Amino acid sequence: MSYVTVAKKYTPESVKRLVARFRKLFIYHNYDSSQYWKKRAADPDQAAVLWTNQEYNSLYRQDQQTILEPYFKQLVPQASVLDIGCGIGVVASMITRMNPTLKVDAVDFPEMIAVATTKNAGVQINYIACEAENYYSEQPYSLILSSGCYSAIRDISKLEQSLHYASEMLATNGLLIMIDPFHRWNYLARAKYGSQDVINYFSGKGLVLEKKSGILFWPFREWLANSDYTGEHLKKRYLLGEKLLALLGKHFWADYKVLVFRKI
Ligand SMILES: C[S@@+](CC[C@H](N)C(=O)[O-])C[C@H]1O[C@@H](n2cnc3c(N)ncnc32)[C@H](O)[C@@H]1O
Repeated sequence: MSYVTVAKKYTPESVKRLVARFRKLFIYHNYDSSQYWKKRAADPDQAAVLWTNQEYNSLYRQDQQTILEPYFKQLVPQASVLDIGCGIGVVASMITRMNPTLKVDAVDFPEMIAVATTKNAGVQINYIACEAENYYSEQPYSLILSSGCYSAIRDISKLEQSLHYASEMLATNGLLIMIDPFHRWNYLARAKYGSQDVINYFSGKGLVLEKKSGILFWPFREWLANSDYTGEHLKKRYLLGEKLLALLGKHFWADYKVLVFRKI
């Protein structure tokens, strides 16, 4: 490999990323995740809420839709649902397409809501600017969804306050669905709160775990989500990752854990 090829491949940015990854193996870096997310609202398109490779984001959204669709389709007309930490509204608007009869409340920081209302507005979506740890509604929800929100709250007391409100706002027989990167391991942890911590928390509140699965084989997610791969090159690798995930164990090896609880 010539010097020029190496210099092109290893830019200062990519070296910085590599060093940061290596540090993450040993050091857990906590920071104020509210400020972090508020700033990210200005990033382009779904890079504000997911990763820089927009094609990778689309592949993830397709799989997310496959997981969520049966739950939203079975709800009765006019059922109230909550999309907590809705970001720029991509999933809220996916929900209205899956079942146009639902009433969708979607909550996030004002900076995200400002983008959501311009980009993914819909008659059934009621956007609310509020922190998850302060959001409480007297009106019970038939379904509450966290698509990457709860795991993003790095302050554990705020996280547990949000989980507490979710368990309180859920209607009897209602469902709480999380597709969230819950991890305790430094390298992958956002909040250091694993899926077993979530399960213990909600079991203590009397919710019953109905599904424990996962999506996005984490080593491939790390490799691909911010990469320059596109088209078939990207898709082939993405699908291989999900195959490996199915072989190795859908929950343990997943970056995003899928947890479904029912309030009985
Ligand atoms: C990974 S993004 C997912 C966004 C969206 N659910 C989606 O799937 O596109 C995490 C989201 O959680 C939001 N979030 C993080 N902490 C929050 C908090 N304390 N209260 C409300 N939203 C929060 C962020 O602003 C961000 O929009």
